[in-house]
Amino acid sequence: MRRLVAQTRLDPAQLVLPMFVADGIDVPRPITSMPGVVNHTLDSLRLAAAEAVASGVGGLMLFGVPRPEDKDADGTCGARPDGILNRALTMLREDLGDSTVLMADTCLDEFTDHGHCGVVDAAGRVDNDATLARYRELAVAQARAGAHVVSPSGMMDGQVAAIRAALDEAGFPEVAILAYTAKYASAFYGPFREAVGSSLEGDRRTYQQDPANRTEAVRELLADLDEGADMVMVKPAMSYLDIVREVADLADRPVAAYQISGEYSMICAAAERGWIDRDAALDEAVLSIVRAGASIVLTYAAVEIAARLRRVD
Ligand code: PBG
Repeated sequence: MRRLVAQTRLDPAQLVLPMFVADGIDVPRPITSMPGVVNHTLDSLRLAAAEAVASGVGGLMLFGVPRPEDKDADGTCGARPDGILNRALTMLREDLGDSTVLMADTCLDEFTDHGHCGVVDAAGRVDNDATLARYRELAVAQARAGAHVVSPSGMMDGQVAAIRAALDEAGFPEVAILAYTAKYASAFYGPFREAVGSSLEGDRRTYQQDPANRTEAVRELLADLDEGADMVMVKPAMSYLDIVREVADLADRPVAAYQISGEYSMICAAAERGWIDRDAALDEAVLSIVRAGASIVLTYAAVEIAARLRRVD
């Protein structure tokens, strides 16, 4: 009867698996702060992506991890066709065609030697408008490589409009934009920064949102919708379920939420100590994100949750 009357149901198709692909490694490199998550080689990425698609998940979100010596102040390796992320997109689009939705992180922080999501001026401040020019190049390079969806995650003002215009001008009107709409300057990104070998010193408080604020998220949402976002995202998820609900109530487009690295790793760590049941906690967290209003959830546990959902007991 509980199954009959449940008000929230999860489906593997609404889960998106974030994946990391690294340049210059011969074997997959475990990310110690994220049990079960690795930096992939191109070969291991190919296998893991096929496995994820077979599990029924709805999409893959790719992050590139360049060799440290390829990083520079402008993050130029992100837009090069031979950059690791674009090589991975090309390979996966060829392998998988349209059997899944290939998404790319459209941001500079993985590619810059200072680790910020944008280019910085002489005073060390992120230069919003100079960054938009870089994002345009990144998005077009990712579309050309085969991304179905580009995902600006840098929280620059005007990023969606700039990318939409660049994609249209370059002949990619059908490539969609998943906008990181309300992305908070969060302490829970910690493990991700290990995952991408981040060079960041300092913080992102001048461009990501203040955890204290709610109306800012509404303003960001209205701007992103107006600029042409096809889907909008709230991130992190668990500490921001009120924002997920608010955005879901106002958006006339699909709403995604990202169960980020720290949310995932905390559950794994507590479970390793025997304090909570890992699988049940992960399932409950993702279910709650959907109950709050997200129709798409990015989670490092996407494949295992999909497997559990397929099981009928
Ligand atoms: C920025 C980006 C970040 C994450 C996704 N895209 C890191 C940040 O803003 O510092 C975090 C994802 C996670 O923690 O799982 N390109």
